[in-house]
Amino acid sequence: MRHLLDTKSLSPAEALRILDVAEDMADTQQREVKKLPTLRGRTVVNLFFEDSTRTRISFEAAAKRLSADVINFAAKGSSVSKGESLQDTAQTLQAMGADAVVIRHGASGAPRTLATSGWISAGVVNAGDGTHEHPTQALLDAYTIRKRRFGDDSRGRDLSGVGVTIVGDILHSRVARSNVWLLHTLGARVTLVAPPTLIPQDVSTWPVRVLYDLDEAIAAQPDALMMLRIQLERMNAAYFPTEREYSRRWGLDARRLQGLGADSIVMHPGPMNRGLEISAEAADSPRSTVLEQVANGVSVRMAALYLLLAGAERDADSTDATRKGTTR
Ligand code: ASP
Ligand code: CP
Repeated sequence: MRHLLDTKSLSPAEALRILDVAEDMADTQQREVKKLPTLRGRTVVNLFFEDSTRTRISFEAAAKRLSADVINFAAKGSSVSKGESLQDTAQTLQAMGADAVVIRHGASGAPRTLATSGWISAGVVNAGDGTHEHPTQALLDAYTIRKRRFGDDSRGRDLSGVGVTIVGDILHSRVARSNVWLLHTLGARVTLVAPPTLIPQDVSTWPVRVLYDLDEAIAAQPDALMMLRIQLERMNAAYFPTEREYSRRWGLDARRLQGLGADSIVMHPGPMNRGLEISAEAADSPRSTVLEQVANGVSVRMAALYLLLAGAERDADSTDATRKGTTR
């Protein structure tokens, strides 16, 4: 794998390969010494033009557990504020020896520009671009659903027959887009629920069913209910009457939580607006996979960096690479 820019272009085999390597990585994280020598001597640059807690930290943890060197770059406090361009910033980091660049950017398409412009030769991982995609988030979500469903028997399995309902600010959500494509590729049935104003205009071309009523969606007993954050920072108009009204109609409250099937899980990519799209009862319930998603994110990002940097030629003995000894 040369870059990881989206989930839309992943084949079922490629998606399963990443999830299965993530399983191998997760196994290594059960050991007393968690560090693998696999990426020793390689440098991963985290290039973040937008705020992040989970994604940035878990890419850093993933790279370090594979023994790579990590450089963290945040646009805030950098020479970006002096007007330095993406090209010059990226080339500066490449000159310092970056082998992989993990980029989060407010502009949809920025990671692809970086990967295809010829400015740098490093592999590029999209860590969220505008409202376009957030592929490693969708991969860790799919991993979490698969793990809850199949446990230790997850390897090699897709999500055929699994029903996933994604609720909320679909319009501004790169998490929703990446999940729609990946879940569909893995055989899941995807339903979107939102006020009509928060459904994208081109949704008719997506492989999904659209509902506007959350109670109707819950009555259909989805296996996973994924609540999305209302992204106020991307809204330049009033998309719903009031937060109170939004919460009443599209929020996951205690009553709706009770309506879910016995084995259904509640997901949220984070950060959560507690009391708006998700109540504390739902966020903290045993059904909630919010913290599992975060933990699984490290294994999935280890897999992505491994497949990118250890290269296709080593793909064949990848299992070896994770089973071989550890290093401090
Ligand atoms: N953290 C996710 C993202 O950056 C979701 C969110 O911010 O609501 O896309
Ligand atoms: N889920 C997610 O991407 O979180 P951060 O924005 O904190 O990285």
